[in-house]
Parts: sequence; C-alpha cells; structure tokens
Amino acid sequence: MPLRGLSDRRGSTKQVVRRATRADASQILELVTPYAAQGLMLPRTLDQIASRIDNYVVAADASGRVLACAALEEYSPSLAEVSSVAVSPSHHGKGLGTQVVLGVERLARARDIEEVFALSLTDNFFLSLGYTPCTVARYPEKLARYDSLSKAGVEIIPKRCFQKVLDKTWSAPRLVENTEATNRRRRIAG
Ligand SMILES: CC(C)(COP(=O)(O)OP(=O)(O)OC[C@H]1O[C@@H](n2cnc3c(N)ncnc32)[C@H](O)[C@@H]1OP(=O)(O)O)[C@@H](O)C(=O)NCCC(=O)NCCS
Repeated sequence: MPLRGLSDRRGSTKQVVRRATRADASQILELVTPYAAQGLMLPRTLDQIASRIDNYVVAADASGRVLACAALEEYSPSLAEVSSVAVSPSHHGKGLGTQVVLGVERLARARDIEEVFALSLTDNFFLSLGYTPCTVARYPEKLARYDSLSKAGVEIIPKRCFQKVLDKTWSAPRLVENTEATNRRRRIAG
C-alpha cells in the first residue's frame, strides 16, 4: 500500500502519510469527534469509519499515532467529496492537512475520479490546495445527503463549497509503502 514519508527541518523522517488500516479506526474517531462536535465536519461512528477504512488516508508518527486524516466519499464513478479533514490540534500548521488531502486526491485519481469537492469553513486551506470556490447546488447528490441527515436529526452547519478537477495531467506525491498491508496483499495474491 502506498505511503509517503515527511521530514522535519533536520531531514529525519518523523511522519508517514499512508492509506489507513482497520487498526487506525479508533484513532480516526478520536480525531474527528471533537471537530464534529464543533460543527466543522459531520459526525462519524466507529462502525462507519471501520467499514469505509479503505477511503481514509492518515498521517502517523513513528509510533503509529494518527496525527491527521482525510477521507474520500464517492458520489458517482467520477465525483467524490474530500471529507473528514482533521489534524491533531498540537500539529496544526505543519503541512499535515495538506498532505492528507493530497493523499486523498491521489486515491481519487487512482479510482478514475475526475472531480472532487469539499465543504469547509476554512477558506484558505482549500484555496491553498488549488480548489476553486463554487456553489453546493452544483452537487445535488450532496444536497440530497444533507436532506436525509437533517431529517435524521443531524444538525447541518452551512459551509462554503470548493471544487477541483483532477485532469489527466494532474499528479500528487506518491504515498509511502505500508509494509504490513502490502505483504498481506502479496500473501493473498501469491
Ligand atoms: C483546517 C486544517 C485541516 C488545516 O490543517 P493544517 O495541517 O493545519 O494545514 P496546513 O499546515 O497544511 O496549511 C496549509 C494552508 O492552509 C491554510 N490554513 C490552514 N489552517 C487554516 C485555518 N485554520 N484558517 C485559515 N487558513 C488555514 C493556510 O493558508 C496554510 O498555508 P500556509 O502554511 O502558507 O499559511 C486543520 O486546521 C484542522 O484540522 N482544523 C479543524 C478541522 C477542520 O476545520 N477541518 C476542515 C473541514 S474539511
């Protein structure tokens, strides 16, 4: 499984950005729950995260602690949302949010998804990643999901919408290899 190593100012690798595994699910839950409580993102349960773990990218430190996450939420074969972007408060402003979003974009491109969108109260973050402001009305699939969540009693805080087209010339940094998961896949394949 591909991953990407991040270096600190002295050049030693401190964090990796990689596809999430089942073992990360509870840490992802811990990361997103306080932000969901502030209305910055939709709440998730452990079951929801675990069952969609293949859609998550995380940044983790050398001990395996998850410092940041983001998820790809697919709406159609060519459209997906970049959701659940969360960085541990102690690690804000170090580029980890950027790296997990780039990882999710890479995942999207690998799945032939051509357009991604994100909803956020933090304008500059997605603008710095090359996203363009747009109206959420462009995505009736998202409005329909908001509608059903709202009917289920989930409070929806209006956010600004951003979109990015991942055309054929687009490329994101490669992610680093997750040895354990790759070996498991090789064992299954072999
Ligand atoms: C928003 C968030 C994901 C950014 O992660 P991060 O790792 O701190 O961001 P980065 O270091 O990669 O920053 C990249 C750029 O985003 C912008 N940015 C980051 N955080 C920002 C903030 N809170 N407000 C405005 N701009 C911000 C900056 O322009 C920054 O560029 P710079 O380094 O040149 O200043 C992080 O602050 C977070 O987890 N916030 C709470 C959850 C949230 O709001 N998630 C977004 C919902 S999708």
